[in-house]
Amino acid sequence: MSLTILRGRVLTFVSEPQGLDDHASYRYLEDGAISIADGKIVAVNDFDAAMAAGAEVIDHRPHLILPGFIDLHLHYVQSQMIAAYAGSLLEWLNTYTFVEEQKFGQQGHAGAVASAFYDELIRNGTTTAVAYCSVHPQSVDAYFAEAEKRNMLMIGGKVMMDRNAPEALRDTPQSGYDDTRMLIERWHGRARGLYAISPRFAITSTPEQLAASQALVAEYPDCYVQTHLSENAAEISFSMELYPKSMDYTGIYEDYGLLGRKTLLGHCIHLNHRETRVLAETGSVAVFCPTSNLFLGSGLFDRERLMHAGVRIGVATDIGGGTSFGMLRTMDEAYKILQLRGQRLTPFNSFYMMTLGNARALSLEGTIGAIAVGNSADLVVLNANATSAMAMRMLTVRSLMEELFLLQTLGDDRSIAEVYVAGARAKSTLGGLA
Ligand code: GUN
Ligand code: ZN
Repeated sequence: MSLTILRGRVLTFVSEPQGLDDHASYRYLEDGAISIADGKIVAVNDFDAAMAAGAEVIDHRPHLILPGFIDLHLHYVQSQMIAAYAGSLLEWLNTYTFVEEQKFGQQGHAGAVASAFYDELIRNGTTTAVAYCSVHPQSVDAYFAEAEKRNMLMIGGKVMMDRNAPEALRDTPQSGYDDTRMLIERWHGRARGLYAISPRFAITSTPEQLAASQALVAEYPDCYVQTHLSENAAEISFSMELYPKSMDYTGIYEDYGLLGRKTLLGHCIHLNHRETRVLAETGSVAVFCPTSNLFLGSGLFDRERLMHAGVRIGVATDIGGGTSFGMLRTMDEAYKILQLRGQRLTPFNSFYMMTLGNARALSLEGTIGAIAVGNSADLVVLNANATSAMAMRMLTVRSLMEELFLLQTLGDDRSIAEVYVAGARAKSTLGGLA
């Protein structure tokens, strides 16, 4: 068994930071050593030259080594339509998104996009993501096949949508159910892949399709569920017209048994108190998508209200409503949204959210999201001197907190010096885009 040791400044979280002075929430080694064998972390110590004898040592000093970033919500099939010039959600969906996603019915398209999509994730330090594929089963095959090739822990599923979309993008309650079942059997638990049952949102699913989703959840309780909730005012009122018997938007998913600890709900911006309580009681995850919420003018996520109500929270890019593949850019915008809300997000909390926080939201603590013995060696190496502006500012940085905030505020893919997926170097081996 060959041993690799990564040497560098190691930072990992053990709990959610309760303020800037909560030093017990993280572990920081100024000259740390992460020992890796068979893709897993086998030791985390201060570096010791005698102990490292016989191992391959890769020295990343003075960079920081953190757990690889986790992105809780994005649409890989929208990779080529970021920056589509639409006003707000429903116009954006109808004018651009539903046109773009139709391309995934063409032979070969999904494979080409999946490959470029994974390159972009790695370029930005993301080692695990939860994605919506298109309605076409072959888009799911391409997604998981590419993940398997790269040995990445990826979650995703075929979008189910049987109304309020172009004919070429509609399935039926039966075909959506059958295809999802077939894809779960094919991909869930194969290599590092995990499946997410994915009714797009209430507007594009009939009650019959939500009932079919409920049946899938009952049959496959290990799978995740992902959908969209309470992103935009027009979306909320249209949803309530379509489901007049439900108490509110959250009530629609509640009525079909779709809430629970494995349920990821994109956006959750305009929830009433009952909805917030239901999310907390069911352990469902509200997924904050900052760049998308700003780009589509959807609204300002209320982190404090949800947190105080006991709702589990994650964070995500929401490509292609979101405007960056990078979690650093995403947390920069998260910070600014919360500033507008009069809420503070500490740099420690930002980096917690991208790593252990999102791993916990996926119930995958102990597998990813922390630099800890037994976890997968999915890691990111961060360079806070990556650009001249960053280097200039670094001259005045005096603490780890300031360095993290600089990385979040000025950093992008250029700050991602290296990425490891299951112990293998991934970023330095990337090719150029075709
Ligand atoms: N609601 C339903 N589908 C989508 C989507 O593709 N992106 C966003 N941002 N919201 C949605
Ligand atoms: Zn989305």
